[in-house]
Amino acid sequence: MSPTTRNLKAFVFDAYGTLFDVSSIRERCDHFFPGMGAQIAEMWRVKQLEYSWLGSLMARYRNFWEITEAALRFACRALKLALTDEIRSDLMQNYHHLNLYPEVTKALAALSERFPLAILSNGTLDMLQQATRNSHIDKYFKDIYSVEDLAIFKPAPRVYHMAVDALDLPAKEIGFVSSNAWDAAGAKSFGLHVFWINRFQRPEEELGFPPDHTIQTLDEIVGLMK
Ligand code: 2OP
Repeated sequence: MSPTTRNLKAFVFDAYGTLFDVSSIRERCDHFFPGMGAQIAEMWRVKQLEYSWLGSLMARYRNFWEITEAALRFACRALKLALTDEIRSDLMQNYHHLNLYPEVTKALAALSERFPLAILSNGTLDMLQQATRNSHIDKYFKDIYSVEDLAIFKPAPRVYHMAVDALDLPAKEIGFVSSNAWDAAGAKSFGLHVFWINRFQRPEEELGFPPDHTIQTLDEIVGLMK
């Protein structure tokens, strides 16, 4: 353990893209729109994030469920696919049954034996509760912090502050784990101790706040904390 990781007292995780593989939705998209699944899933995710940032800048918060649905409608329109109410509702329900990345359960089980764990996510509490329950990882978390009450999305500093308030710990004693490079930068800018899970060998953001650790999978944290 390095001197900085030795100070860590709790771990807080981003949800979508970090624990849950949002691209796992592409199979269901493919079922309705053969051959288009990957493209839909990718555009859907990109738009969902854009809408979270745009809504925050416009001071027009709509919750994550609503912007996820709006992003799906946009993606289908952009790809000229007819999204019926039935298909839309079916695809949205998949957000409650997302696949976990393969190492997630084991890493959470090991870390939760030594640290309090929580989720800090843009998702609504209902979305996060359903997805964690259905993937059987709810038992590892002491709490779930949703941006819902703040009505703004990451990377607004107020969102990361929720973890400091709820855990009653200084920011530098909280390990924040995210696969989303922009989220990792936002958390580092706020002052958390950041682990960026660079699953797909992406370049680091040029936002000026590099993570404390860049690793490829969640279970590497268990090794770093030994
Ligand atoms: C989340 O779970 C940004 O997808 C990310 O908050």
